[in-house]
Order: sequence, then structure tokens, then C-alpha cells
Amino acid sequence: MKAAKSPSKVLSGNQLVRQNMTVSTATIDETCRALRDRVNGQLEKYVEQAPGIPPRLQEAMSYSLAAGGKRLRSILVLLSCEACGGTIESALPAACAIEMVHTYSLIHDDLPAMDNDDLRRGRPTNHVVFGEALAILAGDGLLTLAFEVLARDVTPADTAAACCADLARAAGMAGMVGGQVADLEAEGRTVASLEELESIHRRKTGALLASSLTLGARIAGANNEDLHRLASYGRCLGLAFQITDDLLDVCGTLQSMGKSVQKDASRGKLTYPSLLGEEASVLRAQCQVAEACEWIKHFGDRGRRLEALAQFVLERDH
Ligand code: IPE
Ligand code: IPE
Ligand code: MG
Ligand code: MG
Ligand code: MG
Repeated sequence: MKAAKSPSKVLSGNQLVRQNMTVSTATIDETCRALRDRVNGQLEKYVEQAPGIPPRLQEAMSYSLAAGGKRLRSILVLLSCEACGGTIESALPAACAIEMVHTYSLIHDDLPAMDNDDLRRGRPTNHVVFGEALAILAGDGLLTLAFEVLARDVTPADTAAACCADLARAAGMAGMVGGQVADLEAEGRTVASLEELESIHRRKTGALLASSLTLGARIAGANNEDLHRLASYGRCLGLAFQITDDLLDVCGTLQSMGKSVQKDASRGKLTYPSLLGEEASVLRAQCQVAEACEWIKHFGDRGRRLEALAQFVLERDH
């Protein structure tokens, strides 16, 4: 992939992001609501009962998928496709595939053998309701359905193949799965470096989020430079997203987050606030968002909604 020019100057803080912001918070909220509705409608169709699916498995898969969530990754697929001149309609299958992989990762992340959480998206976690075995299998079902949807519903076939490869790499051993392993291995470790922390966050969260951007761009037929710009935006945003997740574990509320808070410290998780403190973590997230926005300046007005979304990541309370 040919590299696009790196951002010349990255300002810290919200200054840069705010500078060119022309999409208001209300407008981006409305955009997200509309896109979320489309994704939710399509997701429902994908997990509808079909011959051969054990009803309890279908129930377990739907339970977590339909529980909501911000749908950030799927919205990024759609907006990335739009920024590269494609249609929302054409990117809908890939948007759903990303949400399936993300939801599977949450079901497994919450298992007793992993983070052992009992609340997710405002509901008891999958294993609490369906038992561990079915929760593991519901995750497996969502992961495999994602690739069926990509391979079958993305066109043309070579784009579908490229999307499958992107998503597999992002979700797999060098991406999310690898990051989750490193996250567990770092638990309780007293000595850690910023490089180690960042490497975990980039893999466990950043990789999948960045692949949302490349999938949308590929479906729109983007050139390599635009793919690189959007992937870079995604990597910065993904890191910022996990930093804000760590911060919200410290200062967020169960009500707004829909999951338990203040659990990372008790579990000895390696997080931004635990390593750098809250203030430096906020600054780091701001810098990442500013850099993300630099990467998509090239798209001008077509990238405005991605810019506004980056701001949401910084200011979110859920
Ligand atoms: C939570 O992701 C897990 C992380 C990678 C931090 P989200 O905060 O996007 O979860 P939902 O999809 O909105 O529930
Ligand atoms: C999860 O990170 C990353 C995933 C790959 C699911 P966390 O463990 O911090 O996510 P939450 O806080 O449980 O949502
Ligand atoms: Mg975890
Ligand atoms: Mg967790
Ligand atoms: Mg967390």
C-alpha cells in the first residue's frame, strides 16, 4: 500500500479538531441515529431464525447483538465508504459484519475466564443468561456469520475477498485476539511501559476499529492513498477510543455506560489512567483525535462527518 503523506503538524488538545468543525453535535447525533437504525434493521435480518439453527443459539446471538451499543464501528464503515464516494447501501453488509465481530469479542471478553463481567449494554452478560458454553458458541456463531456475510454480500468478489482478509487480520492473532491475550498477560503486572500499553490497546481495540475504515473505503473503490489515510485515521481513533474507555472505567457511571465501572483497577489491568494518570491520558486521547483529523483533511467536506465522530469519541460519556 502506497503511504500517503503523514500529517505535517499535530496540535494537542481540541483546538485542531474544533478549528474546521462544520458538523454540529446535533447533526452528527442525528446522522448516527439514522445510520444506527439501518444497521440494526439489517442485523436483525441476518440473525433471523433459519432452518438448522438451534433456537437457543439464535436467541443467544440475538440477545447480545440486539442489546444495542453505539454501533460506532459500523457507522465508521458507512461514513468511510461515503467519504470515498460510495453509497451507504453498498457498505451495509460490511457494517453488519464488523458489528458481529465486535459483539462476539464483547461476549468473550466478559466471560469468567477473561474479564468476568456480569453487565453489558445495560443487560446481564451473555454467559449469565445462557451459560458459559452457549455464550462461547454464540460468539463463535457471530464471528463466522460475519465472514459469511462479507463473502456473500459484498461485491465484486475481489473486494469481498480483500474485506475478508482485512477483517480477519484485524480480528485475529496479530490484532484483537493477540491484543486480548496481551491484555490478560499484563494483568497484575507492576512494571509496564507506555510502549507495551499502547501495543495492547492498538491491537485489542485499534485494529478492528481501523479495519472499519478500510472496509468502507474498499467497497467505495478507494485508491491506496485514501485507504492509507483512512486506516491511519482509524488507528489514531481506535487508540483514543480505548483510552476514553479506560478513563470512563474510572470516572463514568454504570447508568450511562451500561456496564460495570471501576473494575480495571481492582483487576490490576494495565490501562492509561493507571500508567499515566487521568490528566495525561486525556491529553493523549486529544492528541490522537487531532492526528486522526489531520489524516482525513484531504477529504474536505466528504470527511466532515468522520471529523465530528472523532470529536464524539473524545467527549463521550458512554
Ligand atoms: C467496548 O466497545 C469495548 C471496547 C473495545 C472498549 P464499545 O464501547 O464500542 O461498546 P458498544 O458496542 O457501544 O456496546
Ligand atoms: C475490550 O476491552 C476490548 C475487546 C476486544 C472486547 P475492555 O475489556 O476494556 O472492554 P470493556 O471495558 O469490558 O467494554
Ligand atoms: Mg478486556
Ligand atoms: Mg472487559
Ligand atoms: Mg474497558
